Amino acid sequence: MSSRKIIFDTDPGVDDAVAAFMALACPEIDVVGLTSVYGNLPIDITTANALRFVELAGRPDIPVARGADRPLVVDDIGPVPFIHGDNGLGNAPVADPSIELSPLHAAEFIYQMAAANAGEITLVPVGPLTNIALAVRLHPDLPELVHEVVVMGGNAYAPGNASPGGEANMLHDPEAADIVLGEDWPLTMVGLDVTNAVNLDHAQLAAIAAVDSPPNLLLAAAMPFYQAFYEDNLEGFEGLCPHDAVAIAYLLQPELFETVQKPLRVEMHGFGRGKTWAADPYHLTEPNSPWAGRPDVTIATGGDAQAISELIVAELTRADSGSKP
Ligand code: BDR
Ligand code: CA
Repeated sequence: MSSRKIIFDTDPGVDDAVAAFMALACPEIDVVGLTSVYGNLPIDITTANALRFVELAGRPDIPVARGADRPLVVDDIGPVPFIHGDNGLGNAPVADPSIELSPLHAAEFIYQMAAANAGEITLVPVGPLTNIALAVRLHPDLPELVHEVVVMGGNAYAPGNASPGGEANMLHDPEAADIVLGEDWPLTMVGLDVTNAVNLDHAQLAAIAAVDSPPNLLLAAAMPFYQAFYEDNLEGFEGLCPHDAVAIAYLLQPELFETVQKPLRVEMHGFGRGKTWAADPYHLTEPNSPWAGRPDVTIATGGDAQAISELIVAELTRADSGSKP
């Protein structure tokens, strides 16, 4: 099987780090670029972390392009250092990255890579959807050029995690999300409907931390802060939710997921802002339906949570973890 080319669009973030190192370790995935976006932390921090990922994985040849520093329309809801640490990596000690950024803005990088590899690139955004919305608004032919889009974010049926209605990635930039989810391209939303159920337990975290490689040493130092957020705030919870890595698991083994096909809209107002609404049969055909003219999206509604978590651990504990050629 030839490996699948992805651009990983990320706001690191501890679970972003888990996902990035999983993708970088896995031979079935060819990471052709990382693009950074504000979100969990401001853009300077998330960009430096993206550079660190390729460096620690021994892949300084993979380009990293800096992206948006704010949402398209309104002020950002703000960073979450209390979840991911002041440095986005659980306050783990980290060195300054020594490699150079791409001269391109992330949105332009995405388009140029898609044009140069027509039909081959899967976009995997795991942060606010600002870069992807900018790319498709600047270049309306982008959907014809990409193979697929797999988004971590959203909540079709689950409650929000950043507000009563909104999942964090959607709530940062609902206007961008509504653009991306409304484009006519094959798109899968891997959101809280499935990621809330995927948990890395203490034994699994220990297995990841036991691998003596630069990526896993960073994860071992970064994950406890993020884990403490879960364990301190959710009664009885042990471990952590590796949300963004669940999107990488979907790329590898989609058969582990339950899905439905429905159009989506993103709520813009009130305490439901950021909520992703799946079309319901009663209102889909109304004259003023919010979903009129919207394409079907593949929505992950559930899955084999244990098998998904085991897949994440298996990829992060490969003997050659982090050193894929
Ligand atoms: C998403 O929000 C961010 O905090 C995580 O990195 C993940 O992308 C989960 O809702
Ligand atoms: Ca993220």
